Amino acid sequence: MPVEAAAAPVIAIDGPSASGKGTISERVAAALGFHYLDSGALYRLVALAALRADIDLDDETALAALALDLDVQFGGGVIILSKQNVTDDIRSEICGMGASKVAALPGVRAALLARQQAFRKPPGLVAEGRDMGTVVFPDAQLKVFLTASAEVRAGRRYKQLKEKGIDANIRLLLQELRERDQRDSARSVAPLQKAVDARELDSTGLGIEEIVRQVLDWYRQKAAGSLGQ
Ligand code: C5P
Repeated sequence: MPVEAAAAPVIAIDGPSASGKGTISERVAAALGFHYLDSGALYRLVALAALRADIDLDDETALAALALDLDVQFGGGVIILSKQNVTDDIRSEICGMGASKVAALPGVRAALLARQQAFRKPPGLVAEGRDMGTVVFPDAQLKVFLTASAEVRAGRRYKQLKEKGIDANIRLLLQELRERDQRDSARSVAPLQKAVDARELDSTGLGIEEIVRQVLDWYRQKAAGSLGQ
């Protein structure tokens, strides 16, 4: 990694499904003029590519090779996989569940590591996922662990789907979220857990602006070197 890239500051935002990480991270990145990494999209892309290629979601060797060779471009809010726009396709619940399955495989995680770290470039990066602060960017300047109750998260997902005109069942969504939380937290490699040096932010009852402001305040305090001194 070039020295200047390694030195670029990182804000790591981790947390469970539908905790609002995506929206918050994009806003924080925009406010600071930083790059943005949606690491979950990479796992979703592996799942989508595997489903399309008829690869079994527990064939670790084939999935790791697929992850290493993914032909993907991010830009302007659009995700292109092998020349196809898959921005909406990867958001389906099938891809979400598939992502959580392939993400439990160490070979797949290892194959995606360098690809994620390559997003770290000046002037800085906001990276969101499950293991940004624990594994991918352990030296991040600021680590945030964003939570919200499962009910609140299911409610948010329901609203998002309805807004897109997609039919959804809130009880089913809650059940799927709990399954996904369970799998993400229980896996042996890079489980969803708060980094010891992460700041926890419970977004239940908070508005997006308040959360963004809190993260930016923490970052500015860190950047000014005033935190914990
Ligand atoms: O964040 P999102 O819901 O898009 O992530 C989809 C799945 O990818 C998660 O349920 C999780 O299993 C996996 N993931 C992961 N590590 C990350 C990001 C996502 O294991 N850093």
